[in-house]
Amino acid sequence: MKITLIAAISADGKIAQNAKQSSLDWTSKEDTRFFADKTKDIGAVVMGRKTFETIGRPLKDRRTIVMSSTGGSETEKFEGRDGVEWTRETPAELVARLSLKGLTGLAVCGGSTIYSQFLESGLVNELFLTVEPVLFGEGVPFATGFGRIDLKLVESKPLGGGILMHFERTGYKM
Ligand SMILES: NC(=O)c1ccc[n+]([C@@H]2O[C@H](COP(=O)([O-])OP(=O)(O)OC[C@H]3O[C@@H](n4cnc5c(N)ncnc54)[C@H](OP(=O)(O)O)[C@@H]3O)[C@@H](O)[C@H]2O)c1
Repeated sequence: MKITLIAAISADGKIAQNAKQSSLDWTSKEDTRFFADKTKDIGAVVMGRKTFETIGRPLKDRRTIVMSSTGGSETEKFEGRDGVEWTRETPAELVARLSLKGLTGLAVCGGSTIYSQFLESGLVNELFLTVEPVLFGEGVPFATGFGRIDLKLVESKPLGGGILMHFERTGYKM
């Protein structure tokens, strides 16, 4: 299975000013369009419970998997939980299960805890990072707590007021 990490980051490496902030507050409409198109193309997305709360509903036309230690059992307070798959599996367990079921692609859509665990697991094959023209000074870091990962820049292009970069993990063959 191909694992694709997608994130919008500030120029100082944050993905939000705080954990309740929606990415729609500060990313460009062009990046929102890119995110929608790319994740629809991949077909399945995984995100953390806090990110899901900022969205509030499953992503249309995409299989939406949300990681939560409660496995969704204490999530009745969240609107739009119907159509969401909740899991408390590790990234490796989740990917192994989905692969066995024949899934060929998964988009890793944050937040920081999910990016960090997937990067630490060594499962991520490619990344799409949009750097937006803003500095937050503080906030939620993109990802932390994993060892060095060497990347190859496949493509970069202006997107909205920022820049979209497509990286592959070194050694990964499409
Ligand atoms: N700029 C971007 O591209 C982008 C993308 C995505 C998100 N964000 C932003 O990131 C912020 C949220 O990030 P965050 O790091 O604070 O939170 P998060 O990663 O979205 O969610 C954290 C939650 O995920 C669950 N979780 C994490 N690892 C788990 C595991 N191994 N097993 C089971 N559950 C697990 C836990 O839920 P429970 O507490 O329920 O157990 C945990 O509290 C928001 O502001 C959001 O807008 C930005």
